[in-house]
Amino acid sequence: MRDDLLDKLLASKKYRDICPDTVRRVWAECVGKYKKPKDVDRAAREALHGITAAFMTGEESLQLARDMHAWHCDKTDIGLERMLSRHASTRERLPLSDTDALYGRLFEITGRPRSVLDLACGINPLYLGARGVNTVGVDISGSAVEAVNRFGQVYGMPVRAVCADLLSPGAIPGVEYDVALLFKLLPLLERQRAASAMDVMRALNAKWLVASFPTRTLGGRNVGMAGHYSDWMSAHIPPGRSLADHFETSNELFYILKQDMR
Ligand SMILES: C[S@@+](CC[C@H](N)C(=O)[O-])C[C@H]1O[C@@H](n2cnc3c(N)ncnc32)[C@H](O)[C@@H]1O
Repeated sequence: MRDDLLDKLLASKKYRDICPDTVRRVWAECVGKYKKPKDVDRAAREALHGITAAFMTGEESLQLARDMHAWHCDKTDIGLERMLSRHASTRERLPLSDTDALYGRLFEITGRPRSVLDLACGINPLYLGARGVNTVGVDISGSAVEAVNRFGQVYGMPVRAVCADLLSPGAIPGVEYDVALLFKLLPLLERQRAASAMDVMRALNAKWLVASFPTRTLGGRNVGMAGHYSDWMSAHIPPGRSLADHFETSNELFYILKQDMR
């Protein structure tokens, strides 16, 4: 298969922000399905378009960099809320009092973690870092990873992130974490590769897994997603884990899974 088409895809403005491993993985999957280079190229672009929905636009990334600088001067909750509003997923958990209440509820069960692994993190580590929780994030979005690393390296918060594709070998850190977050991730993984959500959950070395699912469409409609995802999660508790709790907020469903005693 022609490598120049893959090189063009890797360099294209639209996909430059995505982890190159993701572009190569999707390309390889399409090479397995199509014979003609132009069909591979079209299918790869379609698949990448589906994976990289605009959770944070280029303009929002720029605003976030400015917000972060402003927040660093006075460290107000208003400034933190402004930062979190720059990404669709953290925005959906605002106002900040709701995000605080959510983590209060989660940490009541897990205990306040000494270390968090945040998978497909978006900019969620900014909240955790601002609240003093040591967090390592993983995401395929270069701009989200860069924002988290700037928060850690330039502004001294206890966070860092790695640009990696959870469906590529070696992306999941082997070291043990107290809590692993999989917020709004499992349905995305299943869409990218069938049965991969269970593989990722099984590979995690963490005492607690917290998975979440959206219960409303991006337009805010309630189309029965809560029932669908709660059935899915009940059928996909990974071996060696038990359900500790589950609850629903106004637009998200949470499952907390505990590691069984060994
Ligand atoms: C719905 S957002 C959730 C962000 C964050 N977990 C939150 O809830 O605030 C999904 C995130 O998954 C990331 N993502 C999608 N596929 C991924 C993959 N294969 N590996 C790593 N990250 C991925 C996207 O870049 C995006 O930031």
